[in-house]
Amino acid sequence: MNTSPTKIAIVGAGKGGIALLELLHQIPDVEIVGIADKDPTAPGLKRARDLNVQVAERVQDLIQNHGVNLIMDVTGDPSMGPLIHATKRPGSEVLSGAATRLLWNLVQHQSKLEAELFQADKLAGLGSFAAGIAHDINNPLQLILGLAENLTDEQDLDVVHEQARDITEAVKRTSALCRDLTSYARRDGAGEVVPVNLNMKMDEALKIARYAVTLQDITVVKHYAEAATVIGNPDELLHVFVNLITNAVQAITKRGTLTLQTTVGPDGGVSASVSDTGCGIPKESFSKIFEPLYTTKPPGKGTGLGLYNVMSVISKMEGHICVESDVGVGTTFRIEFPQVQPTMPCAPL
Ligand SMILES: Nc1ncnc2c1ncn2[C@@H]1O[C@H](COP(=O)(O)OP(=O)(O)OP(=O)(O)O)[C@@H](O)[C@H]1O
Ligand SMILES: [Mg+2]
Repeated sequence: MNTSPTKIAIVGAGKGGIALLELLHQIPDVEIVGIADKDPTAPGLKRARDLNVQVAERVQDLIQNHGVNLIMDVTGDPSMGPLIHATKRPGSEVLSGAATRLLWNLVQHQSKLEAELFQADKLAGLGSFAAGIAHDINNPLQLILGLAENLTDEQDLDVVHEQARDITEAVKRTSALCRDLTSYARRDGAGEVVPVNLNMKMDEALKIARYAVTLQDITVVKHYAEAATVIGNPDELLHVFVNLITNAVQAITKRGTLTLQTTVGPDGGVSASVSDTGCGIPKESFSKIFEPLYTTKPPGKGTGLGLYNVMSVISKMEGHICVESDVGVGTTFRIEFPQVQPTMPCAPL
């Protein structure tokens, strides 16, 4: 399909103008026809020249020529709006300072999140990513929240209000992500051993893994036995399930099913399993997958420490982990836990 580019004129070469130049010059279907500022020393004019964007001496010249479709006003100057509306061509639209700033912040926020979630995906097996991400996401979030709040007061344009509400919602969702990730990061804390409800641990791990891998198109099935309780370190067990669930989801390339199961045998033996309908593991790799740094994932994607860590935790608990897999059909990791005294109360974690 051959669509003509959106021709944009930027009015104002301060911080906002520079931000727009940086953002828009990377977008293929956008042509920045020029930038103008009353102040010939405005810093954005130099940046525009570096990027080979035309610098206009007069705002009027810029917005009347070049077949401009969209004028983005980031001057913050109240007299600029009327001037633009008086001189622009009838077909061109104007985006005001507040909306333009909002756009920039949204794009920044989005790309930051994408980068951080990619990082989370990469390090999901390690659990060490959480604190850094939580911190890094939270800062821009606070900025955007402030901006959104200002915006709702600034003008009563319906669309601006709607966008501000959207941002507020996004911020709340991301803050929830930060809270979950932060608690995951504290897993090395006390190291105490208590009764742990495996069903709750698996649910919690599913919530965490959701941030590291996408669960879209994956059906989650749970078969939980009542009173599936073991004695162990709750944070380490969380880490075990986050790793197994992350691996399972990563093994499913398109649609598939993730099954989480706990069982309590007649003898009181407790087991937990994570199954997927993913790519499967060839038999000859069974002996390698628990080795440190063994990974079949592309460079930068997997560290190969996930199952090694899982094995370390389970061995410390004197449990067993085994794998059953068929290539093209799926995989099940099953953990057998040592028996627990049935009378012990269950920890809330
Ligand atoms: N459910 C699964 N289905 C198919 N292959 C799996 C599954 N779980 C693990 N594997 C294989 O075992 C390898 C090692 O897994 P492990 O969790 O230790 O490391 P990783 O997932 O590659 O990296 P990391 O966990 O550090 O992100 C994987 O690269 C993959 O080849
Ligand atoms: Mg892994």
